[in-house]
Amino acid sequence: MKILGCDLIPVTRGTATLKDAVDSAFEEYLKDPENFIYAIGSVVGPHPFPKMVRDFQAIIGTEAREQFLSRHGKLPDYLTACVGGGCNAIGLFTAFLNDDQVKMVGVEPAGKGLDTDKHSATLTLGKPGQIHGMRCYVLETEDGEPMPVHSIASGLDYPGVGPQHAYLKDLGRVQYETATDQECLDAFITLSRVEGIIPALESSHAVAWAIRTAPTLSTDQTILVNISGRGDKDADYVADLLGL
Ligand SMILES: Cc1ncc(COP(=O)(O)O)c(C=O)c1O
Repeated sequence: MKILGCDLIPVTRGTATLKDAVDSAFEEYLKDPENFIYAIGSVVGPHPFPKMVRDFQAIIGTEAREQFLSRHGKLPDYLTACVGGGCNAIGLFTAFLNDDQVKMVGVEPAGKGLDTDKHSATLTLGKPGQIHGMRCYVLETEDGEPMPVHSIASGLDYPGVGPQHAYLKDLGRVQYETATDQECLDAFITLSRVEGIIPALESSHAVAWAIRTAPTLSTDQTILVNISGRGDKDADYVADLLGL
């Protein structure tokens, strides 16, 4: 970001996660909405931000659909993508929403386990609520505050989720599953070593679901996995964690 010319102000409040960064950015924006521009990299926040980000990201699904059809002569049986706020998933899913035969799976972070308080599985364990100007599923504490959330992937630790994902879950059009930190790490290493592709830790959640699911499918069935980002940013962290 600095190379691109940004001034970076680290967030120190609360749990110093994405939720707190969004709170701070909103506060700054509201000081002078005439002259500031608010920008967010996920499909969250008040209208029209989820729609804007969805429409920009939809190019991923449009291109993936075309490439898959020309390479395989058919559509994939499954699409999968990780879900934090949900932009890479919506970006992939949008082009396929009318293809009823294509099943879609969003993968949320189960962190250290769904039976602990160290996860960020908003659609899986959250309840309908409001956060950052949108109505969606929310992970809340007993007194109605957004829950401190955890994932090994810093881009997935958000206690809300894009409103369209909440809608797609309620419709039953998209299935939302989870992968733990450990499954994510295993998938990170497996994809790196088998394919030479080092995925972001966020994307590794989707890879983990695909690795878990592929053995249950027949050999002519296909899964299209969205690799939302490269793992360069996570390489030092993973190397330290695994003592490499
Ligand atoms: C590489 C990568 N993938 C996925 C995400 C999660 O965001 P979203 O759920 O909006 O796609 C992030 C967030 O920072 C990210 O950096």
